[in-house]
Amino acid sequence: MVRIYNSILIALVFNISWSQNELNLISAISDKNKVVFSCENNTKISLEFLDSKNIKFWYAPEGNFNRNNESFAVINENFHANYAITVNESASVYEIFTDDLRVMVYKSPFKIQIFNKYQRLLLGDDDSRPYTVEGTKIKAYKKLRNDEHFFGLGEKTGSLDRRGNSFIMWNSDKPCYSDREDPLYKSIPFFMSSYNYGIFFDNTYKTTFDFGKESKDYFSFSAPNGAFIYYFMYGKDYKEIIKSYTELTGKPIMPPNWAFGWAQSRGLLTNEELTMDIAKQYRERNIPCDIIYQDIGWVDGLQNFKWHKDRYDNPKKMLSDLAENGFKVIVSQDPVVSQATIEQWQEANSNDYFAIDKRSGKSYDMPWPWGGNAGVVDFTKPEVANWWGKLQQQPINDGVKGFWTDMGEPAWSNEESTDRLQMKHHLGMHDEIHNVYGLTWDKVVTEQFEKHNPNQRVFQMTRAAYSGLQRYTFGWSGDSGNGEDVTSGWKNLANQIPLGLSAGLGLIPFWTTDISGYCGDITNYDEFSELYIRWLQFGVFNPLSRAHHEGNNAVEPWLFGPETEQIAKQCIELKYQLHPYTYTLAREAYDTGIPIMRALVLEFPNDENVYGIDDQFMLGKDILIAPIIKEGATKRMLYLPEGNWIDYNSPEKMYSGEQTIEYPVSLKTIPMFVKFGAIISKMPIMQYINQIEHAPVIFEIFPSEKPSAFELYEDDGTTNNYKRNIFSKTRIESHGSTSLLEISLFENQNNLFKTEKRNYVLQIHLPSKPKKILLNNAKLKPTTLSKINEDVNSNFNDSGFNYSSENQILTIRIPDSKQKTIISITK
Ligand code: NOJ
Repeated sequence: MVRIYNSILIALVFNISWSQNELNLISAISDKNKVVFSCENNTKISLEFLDSKNIKFWYAPEGNFNRNNESFAVINENFHANYAITVNESASVYEIFTDDLRVMVYKSPFKIQIFNKYQRLLLGDDDSRPYTVEGTKIKAYKKLRNDEHFFGLGEKTGSLDRRGNSFIMWNSDKPCYSDREDPLYKSIPFFMSSYNYGIFFDNTYKTTFDFGKESKDYFSFSAPNGAFIYYFMYGKDYKEIIKSYTELTGKPIMPPNWAFGWAQSRGLLTNEELTMDIAKQYRERNIPCDIIYQDIGWVDGLQNFKWHKDRYDNPKKMLSDLAENGFKVIVSQDPVVSQATIEQWQEANSNDYFAIDKRSGKSYDMPWPWGGNAGVVDFTKPEVANWWGKLQQQPINDGVKGFWTDMGEPAWSNEESTDRLQMKHHLGMHDEIHNVYGLTWDKVVTEQFEKHNPNQRVFQMTRAAYSGLQRYTFGWSGDSGNGEDVTSGWKNLANQIPLGLSAGLGLIPFWTTDISGYCGDITNYDEFSELYIRWLQFGVFNPLSRAHHEGNNAVEPWLFGPETEQIAKQCIELKYQLHPYTYTLAREAYDTGIPIMRALVLEFPNDENVYGIDDQFMLGKDILIAPIIKEGATKRMLYLPEGNWIDYNSPEKMYSGEQTIEYPVSLKTIPMFVKFGAIISKMPIMQYINQIEHAPVIFEIFPSEKPSAFELYEDDGTTNNYKRNIFSKTRIESHGSTSLLEISLFENQNNLFKTEKRNYVLQIHLPSKPKKILLNNAKLKPTTLSKINEDVNSNFNDSGFNYSSENQILTIRIPDSKQKTIISITK
């Protein structure tokens, strides 16, 4: 009894509103697509229907619908022009029907339930209390079903299925983070449930999410402050939910085409000589490479964007020599100005470009891991943009191709450090701005790049971010840790897979891990080579594939001995061969938000077996990859979902789906499976993207009885014309029967972008030699493989075919006539 009185007392003193579970509605006022419910205690809840599937919720305990800042993430709530709802009232409940949903709002006690049109409960408030309020802190409680699973929250550690775990959103620099570290660099408060809905909780404070860790009966999300706004998104599957989230927060911009090439980096890759040497080695060894990064030591003062004089003799020449050899250079930038960079610091200080220390009213004095204490540039202040834009344009004018925006948490934001909360930004105190600080920086970097380089595609790869980042930047997963002993990072490698897949679910489709893992000194390359190669075998499927390691620990492939170099070379070559396929997926990511590297649930949403699979993924809808993540592995178990699958490494081997198989591996194996019917577009191996003009388009076809199709996407690769739909789409179809296979190539469906003169090379997997091949009804002649490859980049008149019984591959070369072409193969 005494205890009960005590708690009531505590509740009164601290204004803990336990009575929230007794919320009773007194009225509902609706207007067009919105309804506001008012409760006895002044609480108001508004539901705004963006269309028949998507609802914006706003829970306002004091009935006040004001917010300090407009959303940093949401750019579009107008899903459906003039959408309107009708609210029906009965004695105990209000009901809103849309074409897809039935929303029930109970009066007493207040509770909301959302059903689909088949009366299946999608999302329901927890029966005992929908919300609690403690001062400024609000927490929402939702009913948890025994079989409910959750995916999302962006780049977080742990299993893809978030059930049973809790997470915090507080962008944090966590050097050498473990496979369980939370929070990490990015805050993407968007998740999806296996009950066909997603929630985007648009609150930038330090929010928390609990998916049944606290209780088996409910899941919850809470914010310590700020407007309590969340969006409910209904979809027939995860892809549809992601599409709505994309509509809400923006499309992921496409990187330049060369960004899908291989990239080399290192903490101390910050001088001309080393850069030139690495470039030379890549070309001499014929290992494809497009990008060389320069880490932060390239500047002579943080962050004046001037080349470090002792490290670069002639940076412009370096850049043009590299460009001639197909290399693009990306430089790092940090969002601060060191006090040691006196002139720039004084300029920024006198113009009030820094975040202010609330206590002193002066620029906040931020400790920084290098360059001494610094001022934190306040990117929420409009005047800062042009200043920063001019500065960052200097290296671009020299020939640099883009930025690696690092440390935007802003760094050293460990949980323990609360002093930073004294920072005041133009748009608010740090507790509100912290998680969007990186986003506001990314926005300036991209907008300014676009202003100074009209119509050029920006390259910006970032570490700290909030939802909406996809409008400005790509991502990488920061300093994943191998720990003190660099060879013991196997768990960290394994962790990078679900982390990257989850990044993809949160609209970071263009992403890389630091291939090799960031942390740990490499003292023995032999000992580290196995982990390195396994990391690389996963990394080559990351859209942005960058090898990077701390300090002066070099991770160029040739340092690990000839065998590793050879394996690495082949893996990187495979990446290049698949470039047309990946680039087509990049366009799909731009159009729909669907990532390139896909968690299995995206492609197989109804197969519960895939919920728990963290170490496999799909590259697009047709290729399944199961990287090796165990030391000394000679085999691995892997699950093949629904369908029929071909072993990409031995195409004569086929498997039916919905089974787990044991797959033998050697050091060079990447288990890869292709779906029956798949058409994979490829290009010849090049040392860098676009190296070979008029290169053939290769289609590798795995025919099935069922018709299948692929649409190859192409554009100029480097401008923003793609946003104005200037591109080409070439459709290829395959129709099969037991006796005849017909391949149709269609005219460019868009025609705004003209593809160059070239040949098509079809590589068709066929178990036996075809009897006859017709090209538009004319007989095609047999020829040798070497003839097919001969002058394939310059002669656009010859055609022919070759069948290899050994590989069971029919190769056909025909000129790309830019018109509909039909190839009939009699089997
Ligand atoms: C932290 C980044 O995560 C890392 O990749 C980089 O090498 C260092 N900053 C130095 O700039």
